Amino acid sequence: LAKIEIKLADIPEGKSVTFKWRGKPLFIRHRSAAEIQAEQSVAVSSLRDPQHDNDRVQNPSFLVVIGVCTHLGCVPIANSGDFGGYYCPCHGSHYDASGRIRKGPAPLNLEVPPYSFPEEGLLIVG
Ligand code: FES
Repeated sequence: LAKIEIKLADIPEGKSVTFKWRGKPLFIRHRSAAEIQAEQSVAVSSLRDPQHDNDRVQNPSFLVVIGVCTHLGCVPIANSGDFGGYYCPCHGSHYDASGRIRKGPAPLNLEVPPYSFPEEGLLIVG
């Protein structure tokens, strides 16, 4: 399927839910206020792939990323690792709750796919 529709009410705060989009895992994370605050205050200059959280999310409450490690393509595990986001067990890459690479061999942040919020409570990816 080229596009998928996701009802945001199905994703409780604090959870990262995995969908499938164009044959790849897609992570939708309903971030808590504390996670949003933490990710927005990270010094961009300290990052390997420097991106502010605001440039990675359209709505701070929801992170939308492709669940494929940018090292060699394994699927990271949610709510795991040293930075509270995702952890790739294949070779130990740690991503934060903005999907940014923080530690380990992966070179780049988790990819943000095209998406939109066409109406209240609805997300369309693709
Ligand atoms: Fe994820 Fe190597 S594939 S760390």
